[in-house]
Amino acid sequence: MEEHLTVGRVAELAGITVRTLHHYDEIGLLRPSARTAAGHRAYSAADVERLRKVLAYRRLGFGLREITDLVDDPATDAVAHLRRLRGLLLGQRDRAAAMVTAIDRELEARAMGIGTTPEERLRMFGARLYDAIGSAYPATRRTEPRIAARIWDALGDARTVLNVGAGTGSYEPPDREVTAVEPSAVMRALRPPGAAPCVAAAAERLPFEDRSFDAAMAVSTVHHWPDPVAGLRELRRVARRVVVFTYDADDIGWRQRFWLTRDYLPEFAGLLTGWPALADLTRAIGGRAEPVLIPWDCADGFFEAYWRRPEAYLDDHVRRAVSVWTRVGPEAERRAVRSLREDLASGRWAERNRDLAALDTAELGLRLLVA
Ligand SMILES: C[S@@+](CC[C@H](N)C(=O)[O-])C[C@H]1O[C@@H](n2cnc3c(N)ncnc32)[C@H](O)[C@@H]1O
Repeated sequence: MEEHLTVGRVAELAGITVRTLHHYDEIGLLRPSARTAAGHRAYSAADVERLRKVLAYRRLGFGLREITDLVDDPATDAVAHLRRLRGLLLGQRDRAAAMVTAIDRELEARAMGIGTTPEERLRMFGARLYDAIGSAYPATRRTEPRIAARIWDALGDARTVLNVGAGTGSYEPPDREVTAVEPSAVMRALRPPGAAPCVAAAAERLPFEDRSFDAAMAVSTVHHWPDPVAGLRELRRVARRVVVFTYDADDIGWRQRFWLTRDYLPEFAGLLTGWPALADLTRAIGGRAEPVLIPWDCADGFFEAYWRRPEAYLDDHVRRAVSVWTRVGPEAERRAVRSLREDLASGRWAERNRDLAALDTAELGLRLLVA
């Protein structure tokens, strides 16, 4: 009879948890082909080979649903899989190398006291950043229905909608005519088949006539724009209604309330340097700001999303889909994660954050700007 490995042994060899293997089984991604006499999962050589592919795609940042399609693709044999993985890895390596070159250039310019232009900063921290980290995005970044409902409600009766900094299109309303704008080629390539048409452009210079859309929206993107006020004025120019989901950078209160930035990642504050006040952003669109509470089980894995699920921040896939971790740098990230892991193991985190268990939503500075 063919030899099978136990679930524990496979987990150990692959460097993942037994729980992950159970989950893969439950969602049909990796069903072990046998059971032991005691009813435990048993994996054949073919199962292990499938797991190897799953983990390789996972490491590249693909979501579990996409991986199922990739590994089940009948047109793809083992060699074709390896070729595809190799191509994806080379792409990732090239993007990382381009990012290192851009950082080196900026470091050099700073050392020589030369200021960088808005265009250069855009290349570095806007679209370029997403060219480098974009492939990890779909793993955990998806539509949170309760936030989507707020955004779609604010769009009112708009029939034509421009979605700026659209990424993979998570919050595009399904029942309106949407045009997307996205400067990162990697993000554009990750838009699902059938998604709204997408134009390669940046918010600060929208290639549209005045008032060409009923509404313009921008979700979790304004903080990436080199010139947020100029970008928001552009949204105002091309649309009659503007809806922006962003956060209040000048409210120190929420940063103190959020244990992740307060106790583990104080470097976050540095990312907000020079960021315009919320009043400047609302003024740019001529609108008002409303708080958006984050549900404890938020489906969109943005930075603050796991405020009641601290273990999530230990997961590399969760961090790779959030630009903050790339922007603070590997040293701060390693220290924050190590320290959080220790506090979770010792019970210190639970002790310090006991009050969170009773909350279903948290006010962590997220705002909906509506004009
Ligand atoms: C965190 S993602 C948000 C994507 C999408 N709106 C969502 O909610 O999933 C931020 C996006 O902003 C884009 N971006 C960066 N700089 C930009 C700019 N100057 N104008 C428009 N979009 C920009 C990035 O390429 C990235 O796709």
